[in-house]
Amino acid sequence: MNQRVPELRLEHVTKRFGSTAAVQDVSFCLWPGEFLSLLGPSGCGKTTTLRMIAGFVVPDAGRILCRGQDITDEPPYRRDVGLVFQNYALFPHMTVAENVAFGLKMRGAARSVTRDRVQWALELVRMPQYGTRRPHELSGGQQQRVAVARVLAAGASLLLFDEPFSNLDAKLRKAMQVELRELQQRLGIATIHVTHDQQEAMSMSDRLIVMNSGQIEQEGTPEEIYRHPRSAFVAEFMGECNRLAGRVVGVDRARGMAELDLDAGGRLLAPWSGPEDPPERAVAFLRPEHITIVSSGAGGGQANVLAGTVRRRVYLGPVTVLYVSLNDDTDVLVQCTNSLNGASGYGPDARVQLHLPPPSVRLMPL
Ligand SMILES: Nc1ncnc2c1ncn2[C@@H]1O[C@H](COP(=O)(O)OP(=O)(O)OP(=O)(O)O)[C@@H](O)[C@H]1O
Ligand SMILES: [Mg+2]
Repeated sequence: MNQRVPELRLEHVTKRFGSTAAVQDVSFCLWPGEFLSLLGPSGCGKTTTLRMIAGFVVPDAGRILCRGQDITDEPPYRRDVGLVFQNYALFPHMTVAENVAFGLKMRGAARSVTRDRVQWALELVRMPQYGTRRPHELSGGQQQRVAVARVLAAGASLLLFDEPFSNLDAKLRKAMQVELRELQQRLGIATIHVTHDQQEAMSMSDRLIVMNSGQIEQEGTPEEIYRHPRSAFVAEFMGECNRLAGRVVGVDRARGMAELDLDAGGRLLAPWSGPEDPPERAVAFLRPEHITIVSSGAGGGQANVLAGTVRRRVYLGPVTVLYVSLNDDTDVLVQCTNSLNGASGYGPDARVQLHLPPPSVRLMPL
C-alpha cells in the first residue's frame, strides 16, 4: 500500500499562535480515495490542520505535499483543495446556482462549462431544482448540500470538511453522514473530515487520526482504535470505558498475562505482552459491552469475577446500561443487549457478579 503516492502528505507540520502550540510535529498521509477523520476535543488543532492544508494558514515548520509536490508555500487558489466550512459560508445575496458557480467563475471557466458543471453538481447532491433559490430559503441540510456542490463543481481533487454537520439535528445529521459518504465513495475523492463526535468519525471513515493538544495520539481504522487504544486518552475519548486501578502481583510470561490486585477488591488477569515487566501499579480499561453478568448473589474470589450491587439502571432501547458499585463504591458500567431474554432485568440493589473476560481488558501503566 505504501508504494502508492499519497494524495496528501504532512511532514512534521507545526503551527504556533503566540505561546499556543496549536499543531505540533504532525505527520500523516491521505491515500487516494480515502476518507480520513481528524478527531479530538475542542482546541486540539483540527481546524488549524485543515486550514494549513487549504493554504489559509502557513505552517511554522514542516512540509505539505500534494501527490508528491511540495505545496507548503502555495496560496489557497493554487491548490486543488475544496474546504467546506462549519457554517457553510454561502453568499447570502447569490442564488444557489451562483454560489455553486463561484469557484468556476473565479477560475475564468467558459459560461457553457460553468452551466454544465453547476447542473452536474446540483444533481449529485439531489438539488437540481433549487438553482434559483437563495440560501435563506433553504433548510440547514439543503445549505449543507449546496456547500458540498460548490466544492465539487470547482473540481477539487481533495475535499476538506470542518464539522460539516454541527448545525443539523440528530436525525438529519445521520442522513447527511450516509449521503456524504456515499457521494465521496462514488466520486472516489480523497477526503479529510474534522469532527469531535467519535460516533460520526467511526461511522464514516476508512481511517481515524485522534488528536490531543496539537499532537497525534493514534491513527488507525475505527476498529483498531476502538479495540486497541494505545493511551488512556484514546480509550476514554472513543466511548464509554471502565477504569479499574490496582497493584500488579504477578506476570506469566509464557501466557502473556499479568495479574492485578484491584483497589476495588478482587483479582484480574489481563494480557501483558510488553517487553518489560509491567509497572508496580496499572489501570485496566474495559468497555461496558464486554462485561457480562454471570450470576446474581454474593460470592466472588475467582479471577475476573467481581461482586457488586446495581445502583442504577438506564434503559436505552436496544441496550440497558447498569451502574454496578463494587466494594469501594467504584462504579462499573455494564451494557446489556435488550434481546427478548436479555440479562437486563436487574433492578437497583440487586447483587450481581460480573465477568470481565481477559482478552477484552487493556492494561496500561498508571
Ligand atoms: N488565529 C488564531 N490565533 C490565535 N490562536 C489560535 C488561532 N486559531 C487557533 N488558535 C488556537 O489554537 C488552538 C487550536 O485551535 P483549533 O481551532 O485548531 O482547534 P479545533 O481542534 O478545531 O477546536 P474546535 O473543536 O473547538 O473547533 C486553540 O488553542 C486555539 O485557541
Ligand atoms: Mg475547529
